[in-house]
Amino acid sequence: MRPRSVRRKTLFAALAATVALVSGATTVSAAPVQHRPAYLDAGKPVPVRVADLLSRMSLDDKLGQMTQAERGAITDPADIATHRLGSLLSGGGSVPTPNTAQSWADMYDGFQRAALTSPLRIPIIYGVDAVHGHNNVHGATIFPHNIGLGATRDPKLVGRIGDAVADEVSGTGVDWDFAPCLCVARNDRWGRTYESFGETPELASSMTTIIDGLQGRSLSDKGSILATAKHYVGDGGTTGGVDQGNTELTEQQLRAIHLPPFQAAVRRGVGSVMISYSSWNGVKMHANHYLITDVLKNELRFDGFVVSDWQGIDKIDGQEGFTAEEVSASINAGVDMVMVPYDYVRFLDTLRGEVAAGRIPMSRIDDANRRILTKKFQLGLFERPFTDRRLTPTVGSAQHRALARQAVRESQVLLKNDGGVLPLGKNGQKIFVAGKNADDIGNQSGGWTITWQGSSGPITPGTTILQGIRDTARSSAVTYDRNGAGIDGSYDVAVAVVGETPYAEFMGDRPAGMGLDAEDLATLQRLKESGVPVVVVLVSGRPLDIAAELPGWDALLASWLPGTEGGGVADVLFGDYNPTGKLPVTWMRSAAQQPINVGDGQDPLFPYGYGLRYRRG
Ligand code: GLC
Repeated sequence: MRPRSVRRKTLFAALAATVALVSGATTVSAAPVQHRPAYLDAGKPVPVRVADLLSRMSLDDKLGQMTQAERGAITDPADIATHRLGSLLSGGGSVPTPNTAQSWADMYDGFQRAALTSPLRIPIIYGVDAVHGHNNVHGATIFPHNIGLGATRDPKLVGRIGDAVADEVSGTGVDWDFAPCLCVARNDRWGRTYESFGETPELASSMTTIIDGLQGRSLSDKGSILATAKHYVGDGGTTGGVDQGNTELTEQQLRAIHLPPFQAAVRRGVGSVMISYSSWNGVKMHANHYLITDVLKNELRFDGFVVSDWQGIDKIDGQEGFTAEEVSASINAGVDMVMVPYDYVRFLDTLRGEVAAGRIPMSRIDDANRRILTKKFQLGLFERPFTDRRLTPTVGSAQHRALARQAVRESQVLLKNDGGVLPLGKNGQKIFVAGKNADDIGNQSGGWTITWQGSSGPITPGTTILQGIRDTARSSAVTYDRNGAGIDGSYDVAVAVVGETPYAEFMGDRPAGMGLDAEDLATLQRLKESGVPVVVVLVSGRPLDIAAELPGWDALLASWLPGTEGGGVADVLFGDYNPTGKLPVTWMRSAAQQPINVGDGQDPLFPYGYGLRYRRG
């Protein structure tokens, strides 16, 4: 991993404090160093700074630190200080206008300046879902979604991706990433299967290297951001693959399948954990004291802070909105910060009422604040509250795009290659390209891209798979028609790039069929009738039910959701990279087999770990 610049902290902190004093961004006027409060002395140990700050905080200061609001809920930045808010977030697609890295940094700095007008000038921490790059930001590098990274079986590469994502996120001021998702996807009907590194705890655990990349060797290093292990625990194991559903497992099964990636994340020092919407045997995770406090905090010794999911506490009773009972249940279960995210004034009033009534002990409030403030101090937010603009140019940089292209190459899984139809010839071939996902950055990026659900079309700069094919072919001629119109026997090969269109979360659940859509089937039929060999490139967030069609295909490449660097798919198609990808999930023979996982005794179409290579020579 690229070593981060190591700095003489004391000197830097003193310089920063002096600069801050001059700019008025510290808690006191130009107090001489010896009278500065301990919590503002970067030379003091973090626990000392935390204790000193806690001793100065009012109840409202403390309750505000436990409250996270959506940026869209802030009508007047002054409200941040008025309500002592500890954190803001951008939900998926919640972006400044214009949606540029510079504009994000200006937005972040504006919110931070407002936060520093509070009496104790405690900086906010700002969170986003940078789950495959800084994916809210137009022009950012979009990496393959986790299911493709799982197919690489390359933890070192995934660690480097974390490093790159941290630089792009930091370059926009943001200091907290709601990633990685360490879900173990057991039923491919689940709409969040693509957010999983794979169906085994071992594979998901191996990819926690991304946390090292995001958090750096030290949270105080330039470009380091706080990572989040999510969603704790068992979100990928719900019955029927229903998003936010019920995970019906014994404790032994839950611990064997879904807990290990969180153990690995805690060992790597992950700074936060987000609670799952799902339930375990009928008990909502957001109210599960045993799993959050007894297991995560005490048994696993997690010393970071626990954040709820978006309106996660509202869903405890299954009704819309949160109640005083739900506030108490979640905080007492061990939630330290609540992603409200809109009705934060009522949340604060409710929380204050529960504390006043003695239903939430001050010891719980202080524990939550100690955890949150510890991370803010470790991140260096009190010394360096504003964007490091030296990192802003890293957003969408050529270096990061090259890294993403390597990840795309390594994520491709070759499942069939009859007659050596692949690799394609760069010279002298007539190549016909078809399919709705061939020339569509939005479709090849999937959900959580620019908007929450993602969308089709040229939504952000990048290279489509078709463009990658065109760039790589030399004298070979490349013709494209989305639906295959114009194909005839004069072509040497047809490449059909088909699969899913973008979705996120429950919108992607597939309780019924899991096959290709009518448009893709019609395109494939037209190509097949031409008699030309057909190579299928499947752009999807999960295995699809394609056993019936497979015999009519000469080759099949699982491309997953590659992101902006479609050139990496062409690198494999033309043999510039001999595919190494291995299935991160078992490939069903029929949707009726779901859930189907390695070792369950069922007969898959392709087994977990399967992947072909080109025969050289
Ligand atoms: C969502 C997701 C979670 C995300 C959060 C903030 O509903 O469940 O993964 O981090 O809200 O966008």
